[in-house]
Amino acid sequence: MQPSPYTPGEIARAVPGRGELIEEFTERLSLMVDLQRLIGRIHVAFGERGIGKTSLLRAYQRLAEEREVLCIWITAGEPDGLIAQIIEGIREATSSWPHAAAKTIREHLDELTVTLGVPGIASVSAKTKSSTTTDRVGARALEKLIHATTEDRKRVKALVLFIDEVQSADADGIRTLAYAWQHLQAEHPSIPAAVHAAGLPNAPEQIADAVTFSERFAYRPLEMLSVGAQVAALRDPASELQVEWEPDALELAAQLAAGYPYAVQLYGDAAWIAAGRPDAGGTITQDDVKKARTSVDRDLRNLFAARWANTTPNQRRFLIAVAWLQEKNAQVDRADLADVLEVSSRSLSSVRARLIAKGLIHSEGHGRVTIPVPGFAGYIRELEDDPR
Ligand SMILES: Nc1ncnc2c1ncn2[C@@H]1O[C@H](COP(=O)(O)OP(=O)(O)O)[C@@H](O)[C@H]1O
Ligand SMILES: [Mg+2]
Repeated sequence: MQPSPYTPGEIARAVPGRGELIEEFTERLSLMVDLQRLIGRIHVAFGERGIGKTSLLRAYQRLAEEREVLCIWITAGEPDGLIAQIIEGIREATSSWPHAAAKTIREHLDELTVTLGVPGIASVSAKTKSSTTTDRVGARALEKLIHATTEDRKRVKALVLFIDEVQSADADGIRTLAYAWQHLQAEHPSIPAAVHAAGLPNAPEQIADAVTFSERFAYRPLEMLSVGAQVAALRDPASELQVEWEPDALELAAQLAAGYPYAVQLYGDAAWIAAGRPDAGGTITQDDVKKARTSVDRDLRNLFAARWANTTPNQRRFLIAVAWLQEKNAQVDRADLADVLEVSSRSLSSVRARLIAKGLIHSEGHGRVTIPVPGFAGYIRELEDDPR
């Protein structure tokens, strides 16, 4: 009996299907570490919940740490604001450094704290609205802090700021960070540093609302996994434990999970258990996957129920319409939706934006939307059949 190697709801140990992104990251890592260059654009991976954003950033972090890069990890959305979190992250990461090495860093940490009046900055500038000046002063101080943190190259080969849940970051913080990066690019292109963020599908919009020069950001959508990537995600962890998946078992699991990474892990985990937590030499069969279905469906239904509970009546009407229309067409038109809901298509914009922000629907451009997470549309159609 061996415990399941799958990771439903946890950081994935490997990220099959993200090869291109990993290659891009590795290249940037090399630019920083080998050529001592700044990565001038702030990189943002975005996609729905459960698509693998946090796992991807953690995979980047592992690669960076192998190359002795100082990694600062931030999960945005704390009330003190993004910059306060960056300050805290750098303070913590350098706290064990000897006094001499950390002296200038501490000075700049203090300077930035004072400049921003952290934690008060966000509320003050939100009220006065003309936060540009404070942001610029803050950006200068942040720039100096990044400079100081990377100065001792024997200690730090490069610095990467990882910002997860970036859609929850305060606009002031995003602006300050973006200005700082713009200055660095113009004035210190040889500072080896980068920012890698991840967020929900509305992250690009949130960022564009906060800064005017959003071409400074490089956006990468995270897609559902290909069949090949799903197969790797199921097969490899088992194979490390000398357990084999039968081909038709893999086929069925990939088909049922439909490319959604969280579902892939649920299937892997439940099939493993259905197979009796096999010892080395064991096999996972299609029957095991069929047995797994009940428990995966239950887990997914719990997830869907939680998401559903977190919507307003207006959003529900919209989702129900999309779910039914989606059964006929892969993508749902704004005009069709307006028709079904008997409202003007313009009046749908705000509920649409809210649902995108929650990661429940996906915008396909030109006003078309889908419910991307496999099974969620079906769940909604069933709910409506069953009036409660
Ligand atoms: N490339 C991948 N292949 C297989 N499973 C993955 C992959 N990336 C993430 N997962 C799994 O998917 C689930 C969601 O991953 P997570 O990184 O938390 O997503 P997000 O941050 O987008 O919500 C987890 O169970 C994780 O183990
Ligand atoms: Mg996450």
